[in-house]
Amino acid sequence: MKVIVLDNYQQISIKAAQIVASQIILKEDSILGLATGGTPVGMYSELVKMYKLGIIDFKKIKTFNLDEYVGLSKENQQSYYYYMMDNLFKHVNINIENIDIPNGMADIKEECVRYENEIKQSGGIDLQVLGIGHNGHIGFNEPDIKFESVTHLVKLDEDTIKANSRFFDSVDEVPKQALSMGIKTIMHSKKIVLIASGKEKAKAIYGTVKGNITPNLPASILQLHNDVYIIADKEAASLL
Ligand code: PGA
Repeated sequence: MKVIVLDNYQQISIKAAQIVASQIILKEDSILGLATGGTPVGMYSELVKMYKLGIIDFKKIKTFNLDEYVGLSKENQQSYYYYMMDNLFKHVNINIENIDIPNGMADIKEECVRYENEIKQSGGIDLQVLGIGHNGHIGFNEPDIKFESVTHLVKLDEDTIKANSRFFDSVDEVPKQALSMGIKTIMHSKKIVLIASGKEKAKAIYGTVKGNITPNLPASILQLHNDVYIIADKEAASLL
């Protein structure tokens, strides 16, 4: 695990974007695993800047996203599909057919099987970007997850619903379920970059880097992956 601590949010956003850009430059048909949430917004904006400067090209890039809420359509502004279009895809030359995000409106069982198979058939994820929840979740793999899980239906923790309610008009509007890549899906990625910002992530980052490996803090499993960057700002790294 390589831990990189930087001064502030802007610096972690630039650093994460540089790692993604380097992956794209080294392999123009890379398979990227992408994350949503507040944290990666800055990274996406840096990637868009690099694309506009002609540094990176998304023409042959394929993407899979970590998760999607159940019951939200692509057009819903709170869906992760919408988020990805808004923050990255509509600003770069990615082929829309090369984007895959779990479909929260589909038959759940079939969609989980389809998604996991698509990832496998693509040859596997070259670089997976992760955020981290206050409770140590990655994707929507909430505490007490089974480490051997693949793409599956999850019931969101109260803690996650509360944290994500800032993107909705009220806490009641936050979906209670989501589809998420599992821990095993994530661990199969060849390389992982996890970004974290702010003191409310400090406990989770401590557990991820220095704690016991335990399903109670799902990100702690990353200690067993052989190519992980943890990029944290000073506040998120304050307990290390
Ligand atoms: P955040 O979410 O970036 O909005 O804090 C991270 C996560 O829940 O994985």
